[in-house]
Amino acid sequence: MTASERPDFSGKRAVVTGGAGFVGSHLVDALLAAGCARVAVVDNFFLGKMENIDQAAEQQDRFHLYREDAGERTAMEAVIGAEKPDIVFNLATKALLYSFFNPAGACSVNLDIALILADLLRGGAYDRLVHVSTSEVYGSAVRTPMDEDHPMLAETTYAAGKAAADLALASYVNQYDINVTTVRPFNNYGPRQNDGALAAIVPLTIKRILNGDKPVIQGDGLQTRDFVYVQDTVDGLMRFAKCDDARGGVFNLASGRETTIKAIVEGVSEALGYDGEIDWQPGRTADVRRHLAGVDKAKALIGDVAPTGLEDGLSKTVEWYRSRNRR
Ligand SMILES: NC(=O)c1ccc[n+]([C@@H]2O[C@H](COP(=O)([O-])OP(=O)(O)OC[C@H]3O[C@@H](n4cnc5c(N)ncnc54)[C@H](O)[C@@H]3O)[C@@H](O)[C@H]2O)c1
Repeated sequence: MTASERPDFSGKRAVVTGGAGFVGSHLVDALLAAGCARVAVVDNFFLGKMENIDQAAEQQDRFHLYREDAGERTAMEAVIGAEKPDIVFNLATKALLYSFFNPAGACSVNLDIALILADLLRGGAYDRLVHVSTSEVYGSAVRTPMDEDHPMLAETTYAAGKAAADLALASYVNQYDINVTTVRPFNNYGPRQNDGALAAIVPLTIKRILNGDKPVIQGDGLQTRDFVYVQDTVDGLMRFAKCDDARGGVFNLASGRETTIKAIVEGVSEALGYDGEIDWQPGRTADVRRHLAGVDKAKALIGDVAPTGLEDGLSKTVEWYRSRNRR
């Protein structure tokens, strides 16, 4: 799907929690491009960056930034009261790797924000919530492909908090029939992904090679993930947001292709023309072994998902980091 085929959001008012982050900022740009009358971001800048929303901020009359903690009920009541959105996209979270530093905090932030948004929705403060969960709720695959009924075997407290949020929202849907769609993206990569502390494998590898360091692989490199290019995730989120049949549902959003971490490091190396050594390090204490999404449920509702191939996506991503370095 191309940007021109994205759903029309003309006249809609949206709030994006975590909108200064990697995925959130691309969603904000896409919502503005799709005609939203107003897009408001709630971000506490835990990992978000102003540069991610520079482009959006140029649209002064249609964009507003709230530097707030989405886990504070009074702040969210004030934002939603002021913005009167039709839809809220919930992407705020503290990165998975943060759960190795502050396990309880990484867990609770995910649940707290979901509960606040559910209560505000129940009270009629807005119409629809698209809640962004994660494939991490499944833990390592006990069967592949992993469909939405795969057991939730969270291996980190980050994932446990996400799983708790998903369960809580499903209960709200059951008890109060609120309009929630839960989407579980698998591993995203693309421009603007954090390459500093807590960085994920793609930006980390790009940064190391561009800095003249060896790329690192933790463990044997044969652990797998289902990688999805960020624009494909944004397309999917927007199509779910416009799909009435997605109400109350839980959907994977991924490529349906399984890739090893070793292949990712090799792919990035090739895109950067690096043929040097890899720095092999011990595996993480908690690291899912296999991830491969079942995407039939998503496809049945919104059509083709994640059309961008890995080579194409990695090449666009590498080019973005290169040009950022030049700037
Ligand atoms: N990147 C991936 O591979 C991936 C995969 C699956 C699911 N997801 C989900 O997508 C969403 C976005 O992920 P991302 O990769 O863009 O992460 P990110 O860290 O780049 O973005 C998260 C944003 O949330 C903000 N934030 C953190 N705590 C907050 C709080 N209490 N209040 C307000 N803002 C807060 C951060 O500052 C950041 O800007 C997350 O919910 C994540 O779980 C991401």
